[in-house]
Amino acid sequence: MKATDLLKKQHKSVKALFKKVDKTEDGRHRRQLMDQIANELKIHTKIEEEIFYPAVREIGTEKAEEMIDEAFEEHHVVDLVLAELPTVDPEDERFAAKMTVLSELVEHHADEEEEEMFPMCEKKLGRARLEEVGQQMQRMVEASQRRAA
Ligand SMILES: [Fe+2]
Ligand SMILES: [Fe+2]
Repeated sequence: MKATDLLKKQHKSVKALFKKVDKTEDGRHRRQLMDQIANELKIHTKIEEEIFYPAVREIGTEKAEEMIDEAFEEHHVVDLVLAELPTVDPEDERFAAKMTVLSELVEHHADEEEEEMFPMCEKKLGRARLEEVGQQMQRMVEASQRRAA
C-alpha cells in the first residue's frame, strides 16, 4: 500500500475512536477507548517520524523542511497531552475536556498532512517510492503488534 494511503487509513481509525469516546458515558469503556487511541497514535507517530518524514525530506525543498519541522512539534504536543491522560479520572469533567483538546489537535494535524504534505509527496516522490515507504512502515506496524501480543 502507498505510504500516504496507509497513514490516511490510520488517521481515519483514530478519528472514529475519538467519536466513540465522545458518545461513551461509562468510565471503564472511556478508559479502554483512550488506551486504544494512545496506542494507535504512538505507532502512527513513530512510523511517521522514523520512516515517512525522512522520506519526505528527500524532496529537498524548503517547504518540505518547514512542514516536517512543524509536524514534529505537533507530535510533541500530542505526546504531552497523552502523557497526562492516565492520571485523569475518566468520570471527571476534565477528562472530556482533555479528550476534546487532544482530538482537535490530532484532527488539525492529520488534515494538514492530508491536504498539504501528502499531495506534495504524491507529486514529488512518485508511486514506486511511496509503495516502498509504505511497505517499510507496514513492517514496523506488524513488528510492534507482535511485541504487544
Ligand atoms: Fe503526523
Ligand atoms: Fe499522520
